[in-house]
Amino acid sequence: MALTTPTLHTERLVLRPLSQADADDLYALHTDARVLRYWDSPPWTSPDQVDRFLAASRQMADAGDGVRMAMVTEGAFVGWCSLRRWNPEFRSAALGYCLAEAAWGRGYATEAAHGVLDWAFGTLDLNRVQAETDTRNLASARVLEKLGFVREGTLREDCIVAGEVSDSWVFGLLRREWDPPGSLAG
Ligand SMILES: CC(C)(COP(=O)(O)OP(=O)(O)OC[C@H]1O[C@@H](n2cnc3c(N)ncnc32)[C@H](O)[C@@H]1OP(=O)(O)O)[C@@H](O)C(=O)NCCC(=O)NCCS
Repeated sequence: MALTTPTLHTERLVLRPLSQADADDLYALHTDARVLRYWDSPPWTSPDQVDRFLAASRQMADAGDGVRMAMVTEGAFVGWCSLRRWNPEFRSAALGYCLAEAAWGRGYATEAAHGVLDWAFGTLDLNRVQAETDTRNLASARVLEKLGFVREGTLREDCIVAGEVSDSWVFGLLRREWDPPGSLAG
């Protein structure tokens, strides 16, 4: 079943389908070693990777596996967020986000994820949303904690990126734990 990528509005952000027009911003984001420090793959080295990323985003929606959305504020691209691994039978999916360094520390990741979760639990009627972070990525773990996610366990030596082995934390949020739409978890 195909999944239509929505356009979602939060207080300061518009989350909208990614497009070819985002290619330069995506390339700048994914070639930044500081942004990709705790990512599960190394920074991009070729513009071809933008095309593959955009094609994969379209295929994901066509196959009904999930959606990726650009995060935009006052017309400027600041990053993207996603809901992937959608399983309609289990009513579950996985949350992801990636922001340009200039936009860090302003609550954008939390605000965007809040919008995605409202959509996921409301429109998609999910029961569970999962997220994984590198255990060294304390900012991302804090975002999830602020949203009410529970840290459920550790995936030991989950990733090896450029020879560096890292553990991941698994976080989960259940629909019954989600605050009513519009109220940010503290
Ligand atoms: C992780 C990331 C999404 C956070 O985005 P952001 O918009 O800065 O997040 P927010 O401002 O909503 O919240 C960040 C929280 O982490 C806290 N924080 C930031 N750096 C921290 C650190 N080193 N240790 C502990 N907490 C930290 C902030 O103080 C804030 O918490 P607070 O509101 O209680 O003060 C962003 O840095 C990013 O995109 N990084 C690169 C890609 C990435 O790692 N994506 C996630 C992969 S799982």
